[in-house]
Amino acid sequence: MTQLFEETAINGMKMRNRIVRSATWEGMCEPDGRPTQKLINCYQDLARGGVGLIISGYTFVRPDGKGMPGKMGIHTDNFESDFKKLTGAVHAAGGSIAIQLVHAGGQTVAENAGRQPLAPSSIKVDQFQEIPAELSKDDIRDLVVAFGAGARRAKAWGFDAVQLHGAHGFLINQFLSPLTNRRTDEYGGSIENRSRFLLEVYRKVRQTVGENYPVFIKLNAADNLDGGLEIDDAMYAAKELASAGIDAIEVSTGTPASGEKGAAREKINTPEKEAYNLGPALRIKKEVNCPVMVVGGFRSYEVLEKTLRDNDISHVAMSRPFIREPGLVNRWLQGDRKPATCISCNSCFKPGLEEGGIYCVVEKKKQEKAAKR
Ligand SMILES: Cc1cc2nc3c(=O)[nH]c(=O)nc-3n(C[C@H](O)[C@H](O)[C@H](O)COP(=O)(O)O)c2cc1C
Ligand code: SF4
Repeated sequence: MTQLFEETAINGMKMRNRIVRSATWEGMCEPDGRPTQKLINCYQDLARGGVGLIISGYTFVRPDGKGMPGKMGIHTDNFESDFKKLTGAVHAAGGSIAIQLVHAGGQTVAENAGRQPLAPSSIKVDQFQEIPAELSKDDIRDLVVAFGAGARRAKAWGFDAVQLHGAHGFLINQFLSPLTNRRTDEYGGSIENRSRFLLEVYRKVRQTVGENYPVFIKLNAADNLDGGLEIDDAMYAAKELASAGIDAIEVSTGTPASGEKGAAREKINTPEKEAYNLGPALRIKKEVNCPVMVVGGFRSYEVLEKTLRDNDISHVAMSRPFIREPGLVNRWLQGDRKPATCISCNSCFKPGLEEGGIYCVVEKKKQEKAAKR
């Protein structure tokens, strides 16, 4: 038995191996955020494919935090039966599922958010056309409550854990980053102040779900942007979260504005280009006692195994490889250890925006060609 396929548990939640499906927006929900049967089928396929933990696509906690079409929402009690169906389908297939909670902040447009986007400061972010309005303190308080309510629903509706989205330039990350947070009140300025919103959200979520329920975060260790969040500030936030009781930190980097150093880097075609967030993850790990997971460019079985064997990393997470091969873990388990077939081209975003759900465009073309032969 290799380390990769060991069963583990974090705060009572069992995972059948150390491979995690990192949060991936699927674009398969109704416009109001209600999960669809198509999305449920997608999660069931992932669970059948053997992955240790599925982290859901980012899920908005308030409608004005919706960043993309087809995004899931957990802002209302009305979706109870749909969500229970979703978590039930994953459990029936032997899987575990965490929900990723998010507010998009300034990384959205009025068409998706239903109003002018809201952000820590009224600063336009690259890649998004609209200037957001600055959040009032009342709104900040309300958002903290909304994260708590999302977590309450998630626990009651069968999710095995929650993960806060503190990466990729969304609201929590916007508060952390000096580039997007120019506030002069207690939420801006020093890193102590820029971490305040995150810690308030974490404490509200923890108070809501109790001590014996896993609460994770996906945290940017750096924005890879001039003037953005840097590793030292991320280490501070990680340390504070760990002291406050977070159960695991998944380390990522980059925002949609970070170009080649974004969250989902392209052309990962050699083992050397894989594991591109391992360095920052190890620096975060030095500061905290909780488990640290890492995501970003993992493709080869050997690289995953080496990452766990040689470092104090608890789980390895992947996104795009599972879009192309939901059954990747079982393939490896059954002895076919060839790398993931994903070529890291990012073409899967487009059908999410235009065709009601992501899929691997490369695999589809390959199959269409084969069918013509
Ligand atoms: C289509 C797509 C959707 C994504 N959606 C999310 C998301 O909802 N939340 C998130 O934290 N990261 C999201 N990501 C980023 C991935 O989780 C991951 O951090 C990144 O793709 C690097 O991992 P990979 O090389 O294994 O794909 C998404 C990536 C892709 C390609
Ligand atoms: S389209 Fe397919 S090959 Fe390209 S990144 Fe997406 S999953 Fe990978």
